[in-house]
Amino acid sequence: MSTDRQLRVAIVGAGPAGIYAADILSKTELDVSIDLFERLPAPFGLVRYGVAPDHPRIKQIITALHRVLERGDIRLLSNVDYGIDIKLDELREFYDAVIFSTGAITDAPLDIPGTELDGSYGAADFVSWYDGHPHVPTTWPLEAQQVAVIGAGNVALDVARVLAKHADDLLVTEIPANVYEGLKASPVTDVHVFARRGPAQAKFSPLELRELGHVPDVDVIVYPEDFEFDEGSMAAIGSSNQTKQVVKTLTDWTLKDPSTFSASRRLHLHFLHAPAEILDTDGDGKVDALRTERTRLNGDGTVSRTGETHDWPVQAVYRAVGYFGSPLAELPFDDVKGVVPNAEGRVLDLDGEHLEGVYCTGWIKRGPVGLIGHTKSDASETIRHLVEDSVQDGFASAPQPSPDAITGFLADRGVEVVQWSGWELLDAHERALGEAVGRERIKVVSREEMLDITLGR
Ligand SMILES: Cc1cc2nc3c(=O)[nH]c(=O)nc-3n(C[C@H](O)[C@H](O)[C@H](O)COP(=O)(O)OP(=O)(O)OC[C@H]3O[C@@H](n4cnc5c(N)ncnc54)[C@H](O)[C@@H]3O)c2cc1C
Ligand SMILES: NC(=O)c1ccc[n+]([C@@H]2O[C@H](COP(=O)([O-])OP(=O)(O)OC[C@H]3O[C@@H](n4cnc5c(N)ncnc54)[C@H](OP(=O)(O)O)[C@@H]3O)[C@@H](O)[C@H]2O)c1
Repeated sequence: MSTDRQLRVAIVGAGPAGIYAADILSKTELDVSIDLFERLPAPFGLVRYGVAPDHPRIKQIITALHRVLERGDIRLLSNVDYGIDIKLDELREFYDAVIFSTGAITDAPLDIPGTELDGSYGAADFVSWYDGHPHVPTTWPLEAQQVAVIGAGNVALDVARVLAKHADDLLVTEIPANVYEGLKASPVTDVHVFARRGPAQAKFSPLELRELGHVPDVDVIVYPEDFEFDEGSMAAIGSSNQTKQVVKTLTDWTLKDPSTFSASRRLHLHFLHAPAEILDTDGDGKVDALRTERTRLNGDGTVSRTGETHDWPVQAVYRAVGYFGSPLAELPFDDVKGVVPNAEGRVLDLDGEHLEGVYCTGWIKRGPVGLIGHTKSDASETIRHLVEDSVQDGFASAPQPSPDAITGFLADRGVEVVQWSGWELLDAHERALGEAVGRERIKVVSREEMLDITLGR
């Protein structure tokens, strides 16, 4: 590539991984010009559309990400869907290198009978609903009194907490009106969370777990018979402060006197119960129970099934067993891990060779595990390799590197690109909606409305 012009890099996906990658790349020795593509009219990925609305401290990470993009040296091109509006071959016309940071947005499959029943939901869809994602319907069927949540990760905790919480306690947050009204009408009384392994294998963060104990008018109930610790559990408690804290909180809860439970809603945490089947006993196509099978610890933190089953009368089941990445057009995909195959961020082709000039970072690189902060170290690794490759071998030079060439191409295709100034309009609009009722922000949900505001039409 000639050295008389800036290196042109496209980053696809404006979640934390993409924004950190852009920021880190912009501060390297390379003279670089970066365009950050996003399929939604708003940036920030799961920080906006995954982090629970009642976690304002984490939502504040948006402020730091906002600061990166408002500098103006990284150009945001939102409302551009990779795979539909543009593909890799076309991106290569305009960019010397491309980084994919498209995250993971769907639910990992749970292979038990009954997941197709009415009342069986993926946690990712429910999260998208309560966080106002424009791609999910605005109404959510909250008709169940008893609900099961499968999984013992932080998403299961988020889902269980949002389901159990009184809607009025969420009204201080940025939740849109449709979410408040949906939750307000919910008749829920009991939310049961099921972990297939023991308390020492739960993937909850200590802070998020303790928070459950402070939800107004919700009793947290645990069952002493679920508390089993094998050698693997003791090793985990000994080696991880987080596990130690989680186990302590849970164990403290076993000491609570049941006669003191007085809340109108209960959140039950069950351990050593593997999901076996979602049941429709009356054949009406709707969930009316969850069957779990008792497990026992094997000694190393893994479990075996015991054959002893239990049917829990519930009218809804939420599957919070992890997220999963989606394949990207013109790129190889690992169907087992749900990631783009890569070696430390260098995308690999079917022969295991680096697909020149193509990189990935964040959850699409690593799989759907880890906190927002992890996407920063992850981006550092990917960018380090991109810089190495650029310095050592260079990249095939893009034929049309001018920043106007790509916007012209998208305009010719009829793509209505939303740039940073468009996001600023939406941001101001949402803040004004919030301010009018004493809240920081109220989200706009409809994609059309988002576009009307961002495009000023
Ligand atoms: C429900 C939930 C709650 C969480 N809460 C917390 C928390 O409280 N604290 C914490 O530290 N971590 C939390 N996490 C983890 C955190 O959200 C992730 O670590 C982080 O968001 C991963 O970043 P990412 O950029 O790889 O993916 P994402 O955040 O998913 O960003 C990917 C971006 O790419 C865009 N995109 C996808 N496909 C395309 C395409 N084809 N074309 C263009 N753009 C595309 C998406 O719209 C999105 O904006 C939570 C995760 C979940 C699922
Ligand atoms: N507040 C926060 O900080 C926050 C909030 C949300 C998410 N996050 C982060 O985002 C990432 C994703 O969270 P997550 O909750 O989706 O994933 P996770 O932490 O990987 O938890 C998934 C849970 O599902 C269980 N599971 C998987 N397959 C199952 C099956 N077939 N049957 C029963 N249970 C099954 C797992 O059990 P096993 O352990 O037995 O496999 C585990 O308990 C995590 O790193 C999380 O910390 C953070």
